[in-house]
Amino acid sequence: MANRQRICAGNWKMYKTPDETRAFMQEWRGLSRHAKLACQILIFPPAYNLPILQEESHALKIEFGPQNVCSAKEGAFTGELSPFVVQQMGARYALIGHSERRTLFAETDQLIAQKVKTTLESHLIPMLCVGETRDERESGRTLSVLERQLRQGLVFVPPETLMAARAGAGQVGASIVIAYEPVWAIGTGLVATPEMAEQTHAAIRNILASIYGADLAAQISILYGGSVKPENASGLARQPNIDGFLVGGASLKAADFIKIAQAM
Ligand code: PGA
Repeated sequence: MANRQRICAGNWKMYKTPDETRAFMQEWRGLSRHAKLACQILIFPPAYNLPILQEESHALKIEFGPQNVCSAKEGAFTGELSPFVVQQMGARYALIGHSERRTLFAETDQLIAQKVKTTLESHLIPMLCVGETRDERESGRTLSVLERQLRQGLVFVPPETLMAARAGAGQVGASIVIAYEPVWAIGTGLVATPEMAEQTHAAIRNILASIYGADLAAQISILYGGSVKPENASGLARQPNIDGFLVGGASLKAADFIKIAQAM
């Protein structure tokens, strides 16, 4: 069995006020007390709620991080968020290249690659999101799209950088996480079947193996995202190359999110 971290991550997008965030934490405290969880819980709240996670996450054994970061550590970048500073606030991960950032905010593979690099240099673990649109899948381009997103997104992370980052962090698994989110499944209620998702995750691991070698690729957690719900989580979680979930809508309700985490 590969030495991979199993992760259940919640992407809260632009939902929850500070009060709602505190209420979630309180509910989670009650629910998680007797729950046996075999995965790391991770929350990506909107940036203004990061200080609440900073206060509460340790006692709840939750990791947290921003949904986006700047490609620079500091400077004249109005409106941006420094990965270096969020790391100092106790964040361990940063979500990079979510499809909403790619499509609504015109983020390119080149910009995403720079963000991945700065995130690693800031001692955060980048969770790089990749995924094909419906059109790309239907026209048979899924694998070439994923290959482009991975090769270009990881262009500044050669094997030695990945190994050094891991040694520095002294943790289980690799210092990068991949989230496979088919764009057609995000927020639509359409979910990839476990077989379809497994096939794509295995193909992603092959691409990673061609970049990093099989041993290192076997340590990289690959999460599935796109309409994950308590009802479909366990079939997906049983697949050998699915190491966790990136959950949008269903992560906003503590009771649903914990059921998904329990399926891992
Ligand atoms: P969803 O979102 O679970 O609501 O489909 C997933 C995501 O955007 O990360």
